[in-house]
Amino acid sequence: MWFPVLVNSVVSVVAYLVTLRIIPRFKDMFVKANLYGIDMSKSRKEKIPEALGVVTGCVFLITLFIFIPVPFSQSILKNADFPHDEFVELVSALLSICCMLLLGFADDVLDLRWRHKLLLPTISSLPLLMVYYVNFNSTTIIVPKPFRQLFGFSINLGILYYVYMGMLAVFCTNAINILAGVNGLEVGQSVIIAASIIVFNIIELGGDLWKAHLFSLYFMLPYIATSIALLQHNWYPSRVFVGDTFCYFSGMTFAVVGILGHFSKTMLLFFLPQVVNFVYSVPQLFHLVPCPRHRLPRYNIQTNKLEASVTTFKISDLNCLGKLIMAVFRILHLVHWVEKKDSDNDKEIYVECNNLTLINFVLIWKGPTHEATLTTILLIIQVLCSLLAFTIRYPLASLFYDI
Ligand code: UD1
Ligand code: MG
Repeated sequence: MWFPVLVNSVVSVVAYLVTLRIIPRFKDMFVKANLYGIDMSKSRKEKIPEALGVVTGCVFLITLFIFIPVPFSQSILKNADFPHDEFVELVSALLSICCMLLLGFADDVLDLRWRHKLLLPTISSLPLLMVYYVNFNSTTIIVPKPFRQLFGFSINLGILYYVYMGMLAVFCTNAINILAGVNGLEVGQSVIIAASIIVFNIIELGGDLWKAHLFSLYFMLPYIATSIALLQHNWYPSRVFVGDTFCYFSGMTFAVVGILGHFSKTMLLFFLPQVVNFVYSVPQLFHLVPCPRHRLPRYNIQTNKLEASVTTFKISDLNCLGKLIMAVFRILHLVHWVEKKDSDNDKEIYVECNNLTLINFVLIWKGPTHEATLTTILLIIQVLCSLLAFTIRYPLASLFYDI
C-alpha cells in the first residue's frame, strides 16, 4: 500500500515545483491571447492573466498519467490478476476531470451563460456515473437511526442516486466559483478542502474501505501540490487569476473522489461554507432579488479597504416569495437593508441591499477590511468548518449510525 503513496508523493512534489516555475512563463502568453481580467479591488488597473487554472490542471493530469501504471505494477510484473475494475475507475475519473478542465477553459474563453454552467458538470460526470454503474451499482443507503421507524434500515434509491451524484458534481463545481472575488479565495478554499479530504483518507486507510481512500489519495496529493503552487501566485496581490477553469476542475476532482471513494456525504461536510454561501445566495441566483454580473466586495480607493457591495432595486420589483425570504433574512439580521423613498413618487420605495454572499456578510459583520485580511478570515472559517465536519463525522456520527 505504501509504495504507490510514496511514488505519488514524490511526483506531487515535482509537480509542485514545475507548476510554481511555469506559471510566470505563461503569463504574457495568456494576456496576448486576450485571457486577462482587471483586478477590481486595486487602484492600478493592469491586465492580470486569467484562467491559469488550466496550467495546474494540465500538470495535475500529466502527473497522474505518469502515475497510472504504479498502483498496478505488482499485477503487471507478475502478469496475473489484473484488477480491471480498479483500472477503469482510475481512467474514467481522469476522463471526467479532463473533460471538466476543457469545458471550464471553454467557459473562460467564451464566457458561457448560467444554464451552461449547470449543463457542463452534468455532461462531464457521465463517464464516472457509467463506471459507477458497471463497478458498484450500489444505490442503497443506510437510513440514520432517528428515521428508521419511518423508512426501515435501508432504502434503495435506484436512479435517484445517480441524479444525486450528477447534482453533486454540479454543486461542487459551481459552489467554489460563487465563493470568489477576493485574491486567493478560490484556491485557498480548495486547498483547505483538499487537505481535509487527505486527513480523512489517511485516518480511513486503517478501515475496511482502505482501497477507496487510497484511490482518493492518489488524486488529492498531486491536486493539493499543484494548487498550493497556484495559490502562491494568486495570493494578495494576485499576479494571476485562476479562472472558472480552476473552479470547475477542482469541483469535479472533489466530486470524483467523493463518489468513487464512497464518502460523498463526508465530503459535503467539508463544503459547509460553500453550502452556506449557496443557500444565502439563492434569492439572487434564482433572480428573486436582482443579481448584478459581479457580486464581489466594493473597493474603497481612499481607505484601500473592501466594503460590502450592494444592489439597489424598487421594493415593488420583488415578487411574493422574494419579499418573504428577504423579510426572514431581515428578521435574522442577515442583511444590510436600507429603504429610501423616491423624491418624485412618494409610494415608490427603493432598497439598498448587500449582495448575498458570505464574503459580503463577513464585511457587514466586521466592517471595512483589507483584502488579504478578508481572505484570511474566510479561510479561517473554512478551517473551523472542517474541524466541525470531523466532529460530526466521528464523535457525533454514532448518534445516527451503528459505528
Ligand atoms: C462569480 C460570481 C460573481 C463574482 C465573480 C468573481 C456569482 C453568481 N458569481 O462569477 O459574483 O464577482 O465570481 O470571481 O456569485 N476578480 C477580481 N479579484 C479576484 C478574483 C476575480 O477582481 O480576486 C474579478 C476579475 O475581474 C476577474 C473576474 O473577477 O477577471 C472573474 O470573474 P468570473 O470568474 O468570470 O466570474 P463568475 O465566475 O461568472
Ligand atoms: Mg469564476
